[in-house]
Amino acid sequence: MDDDPIRPPSVLAAIWHDSQKAGFNFPSDYKLGGLLRVLAASKPGGRLLEVGTGTGLAAAWLLDGMDARAHLVSIEAEGRWAAIAAKHLRGDPRLTLLDADAFSWFGGQPAASYDLVFADAMPGKFDGFEALWRLLKPGGLYIIDDLMPKDDWPPGQAARVQAVLDQLDARSDAQVARLAWSSDIAIAAKTEGR
Ligand SMILES: C[S@@+](CC[C@H](N)C(=O)[O-])C[C@H]1O[C@@H](n2cnc3c(N)ncnc32)[C@H](O)[C@@H]1O
Repeated sequence: MDDDPIRPPSVLAAIWHDSQKAGFNFPSDYKLGGLLRVLAASKPGGRLLEVGTGTGLAAAWLLDGMDARAHLVSIEAEGRWAAIAAKHLRGDPRLTLLDADAFSWFGGQPAASYDLVFADAMPGKFDGFEALWRLLKPGGLYIIDDLMPKDDWPPGQAARVQAVLDQLDARSDAQVARLAWSSDIAIAAKTEGR
């Protein structure tokens, strides 16, 4: 089976081009993009959150899946990456791009306010998990990727990834699936608890 997603977002090639030119080294995987688009489409009128916009690749996939009433907030702390995302995506009224440090931003947000969270940076993934999990509604989806070991991982990264997976599995208020596919992914749905 050819499992590459078909009909990528029309803006994706231009973002990819600018990302390569700027030397952006952490682009979201193409296959993951197709999955994010499906999950975004499952939340009509939903409030979606991406932590770590980068240059906007995953945001483009999420927006492609979202309906007209849905809204995406995407946070990026590094201006040169955010500028590329803004160049290509700021015309979409369903998107709010925030130039902020996600760690401090989480604390000011109301609990249970998001239907889907793509945690694609340190905050809410390897650190500050509880602060981000708190923002998810019951039934909401939490997605992380880049769990596949890489040669350039810093020392201790494999243990950090394992700890994240273990703590997700240990929760009484989550159902978790691990996908050894694309960049290796985990998806958790928030439940009312057992
Ligand atoms: C893996 S990359 C994101 C890739 C992006 N989602 C994509 O689709 O290509 C992680 C991003 O998180 C950003 N980041 C790291 N720490 C952050 C923080 N504390 N607050 C906001 N953004 C942060 C980095 O600058 C980087 O652009």
